Amino acid sequence: MAAILLDGKKTAADIREALKDRVIKLAEKGVRPGLSVTLVGDDPASNVYVTAKDAAAKEVGIQAWTHRLPAAISEKDLADHLERQNRDPAIHGILLQLPLPSHLPSEKLLNLISARKDVDGFHPISLGNLMLGRTGFRPCTPWGVQVLLKAYNLSPEGKHVVIAGRSNIVGKPIANILMQKEPFANATVTVCHTGTPDLGVYTRQADFIIAAMGKPGVITGDMVKEGAVVVDVGVNRVKTDKTKSGFRLVGDVDFESVSKKASYITPVPGGVGPMTIAMLLTNTVHSAEMTLG
Ligand code: GUN
Repeated sequence: MAAILLDGKKTAADIREALKDRVIKLAEKGVRPGLSVTLVGDDPASNVYVTAKDAAAKEVGIQAWTHRLPAAISEKDLADHLERQNRDPAIHGILLQLPLPSHLPSEKLLNLISARKDVDGFHPISLGNLMLGRTGFRPCTPWGVQVLLKAYNLSPEGKHVVIAGRSNIVGKPIANILMQKEPFANATVTVCHTGTPDLGVYTRQADFIIAAMGKPGVITGDMVKEGAVVVDVGVNRVKTDKTKSGFRLVGDVDFESVSKKASYITPVPGGVGPMTIAMLLTNTVHSAEMTLG
């Protein structure tokens, strides 16, 4: 049987609609949420992301600034730029788009962003709060996966979730979210990674598979249990002569074979991607609300 699509595009649009009401309530109290996005260099995929973030923010009534800084910027100049965003009271959320050019130390620079404005959820304080099960900004992609599952009433509670990938942005935080003792979490979580000799041994046992390795099509139908829920976080640009741009986006999941085994599956594009942005906007609105005490 063909799998049901988990429509991130529609779910994200619903979230943006609900945020508009919260933005109106903030406006009544004289607060306009502000989001500052910084892109260093001209990586084409990052450029697409920041353009989409800017447009989505403006759609819900968030004031958004996109700073496009040269690839050759010094660490000091970028640090000074981030400090200016920290001090600006009109800005409730700061995002530094990754990856940074190789001469810039990402972790050190992310740590400079005020934890109170860390709407990306990448600061060690935010990640520490998540690990400890405390409230705080949650990283947008992992949280977006949980909210997408919730929208389809698919609870991982008591189920076996197998995550493929251990990045600081996706794999590790999603494991932390889904193992929390809370609704739409409370799962038994297995994290597989490049050190796992045979990924299929684990994915075949999974009720939920979260693919976040950044390798096109590595999860194939023979690696999936009948009826599993499959979430594809991968966004890989592969070359093709079939599109005008010369590339197409594919996930880490081989959609063709996996969609015949899974009960639910996310498409790429239109699955997790739009959810990431919706959660970024949610964190930004929440950050603005917190200034009211
Ligand atoms: N690069 C890819 N995804 C993300 C994201 O969610 N936030 C930031 N800052 N950079 C990214």
